Amino acid sequence: MSRIGSEKFRNKVMSAEQAATFIKNGASVGFSGFTGSGYPKAVPGALASRIQASHADGQPFRIGVFTGASTAPELDGVLAEVDGIAWRMPYQSDPVLRRKINEGATDYCDIHLGLSGPLTASGFLGKLDVAVIEVTAVTADGELIPSSSLGNNLLWIETADQVILEVNHWQSPDLHGMHDVYYQPALPPNRVPIPIVAPGDRIGQKTLKIDPDKVVAVVETDAPDRNSPFKPLDDQSKLIAGHLLDFLSQEVAAGRLAKNLLPLQSGVGNIANAVLAGLLDGPFEAMTSYTEVIQDGMVDLLDSGKMTVASATAFSLSPEYAEKLNNAAAWYSRKIILRPQDVSNNPEVIRRLGVIACNGLIEADIYGNVNSTHIMGSRMQNGLGGSGDFTRNAYISSFVTPSVAKGGAISCIVPMVSHVDHTEHDVQVIITEQGLADLRGLAPRKRARAIIDKCAHPDFKAPLEEYFERAQRLANSQHTPHDLRTALGWHVRFLETGSMKA
Ligand code: COA
Repeated sequence: MSRIGSEKFRNKVMSAEQAATFIKNGASVGFSGFTGSGYPKAVPGALASRIQASHADGQPFRIGVFTGASTAPELDGVLAEVDGIAWRMPYQSDPVLRRKINEGATDYCDIHLGLSGPLTASGFLGKLDVAVIEVTAVTADGELIPSSSLGNNLLWIETADQVILEVNHWQSPDLHGMHDVYYQPALPPNRVPIPIVAPGDRIGQKTLKIDPDKVVAVVETDAPDRNSPFKPLDDQSKLIAGHLLDFLSQEVAAGRLAKNLLPLQSGVGNIANAVLAGLLDGPFEAMTSYTEVIQDGMVDLLDSGKMTVASATAFSLSPEYAEKLNNAAAWYSRKIILRPQDVSNNPEVIRRLGVIACNGLIEADIYGNVNSTHIMGSRMQNGLGGSGDFTRNAYISSFVTPSVAKGGAISCIVPMVSHVDHTEHDVQVIITEQGLADLRGLAPRKRARAIIDKCAHPDFKAPLEEYFERAQRLANSQHTPHDLRTALGWHVRFLETGSMKA
């Protein structure tokens, strides 16, 4: 059966190669896609071939790429491979693109995900020429049924001069009804309160509206989202999850949290997924989630009935779970709500609901400042993503990490972080496999004691204590003691010798 219900749109069906000709050198292009779900599967590849041919002829051809978040090898990967991305925002995790960014070949603007749409709408980032948006189907009256992510699609469609649609037959038609597309004035002074008071509230409509005259091409595809399997749970991630569960139980016992907790936000990566798996065996019932991505662990919580509703903007599932979700999308539509990312990541809503945030980090320092993005202060890993949207506004903001990286050569707890994404003011709890440091209400010296005692790996505990004692001697009448001559000495040692160990 045709997925394109409107004749106006059927008349514009063409090949990906033809559609890609609407994108010119220097264009700013808004693509759908968020953590490997709902990105266009065919047009970026066709565009990459055009770019490659153009470069072979000595003609420059590079574009600006706007998305919801990370995409997949079929988008970021192919375009980066042919040196086609001059400018990129707001988040990525592709190995080829990462290399280009770190080489300086691509300018990367690492922007809070919740701000990326409104910033584009404001015009600060220039004009969006074309939007390339994957959808599940087009209705008879010409509205769009979104696919497995909503991200910034609404804003891209409204802001771009021209729109190319990819209708992906792989996406389940039963996704219809899962989305909550909320139309709000994007810019001040016309903004109004977002009327969400519980994670399950629906405040918008099920489809995306579009001016049919903007649609210049419709391409049909049948291809799965890029889904990478999660690593099996190891002892380390089980220990981290266990510490967080104990902490939450203590908060319930102390009367600071209800038995069903508060809405959970879970960051990207294996450890965040392991924490969700831990909740499956934990004592909490009737939990809810107000988050950005839905991972395997959250699907298990919904299946078990331990979680009643999950609100997000996209999926980030293993192949097995993506299949499972696709096969039972009608059932999951009653439990899952996908929202635009400026709603899923909205500070106003996150603060009102009182979200419990849990994100990964690269390194934290003894005072609780967190680096989520830069390896050894210089090399971009992925980006900030939504971690700042949630961390800054959460009711409880926690970070999880193994205490060491690179086989033990690196301590993830350091005297001073080599780059700051989240300041000590926004970091309340740090958890490693060694233990949990609850930093709430602690002055800097006490924060340092808690982080070294509870979170540092035994191999690095004594050197951290030694640093802290020396810093106190050198700056003993000051609030946050540092020895600036050696604060980043551990990073320097790693760069020179391959290990932070003395
Ligand atoms: N110093 C140097 N390298 C480090 C390090 C440190 N302290 N800690 C980790 N690394 C390296 C790892 O060795 C690994 O390297 P590799 O790719 O060469 O194997 C890489 O960094 C990623 O580490 P890993 O442990 O696999 O990361 P993860 O999957 O747990 O993700 C982040 C951790 C911080 C990269 C990830 O959580 C992230 O991108 N966060 C920012 C965005 C975010 O929080 N989004 C969620 C909001 S909803």
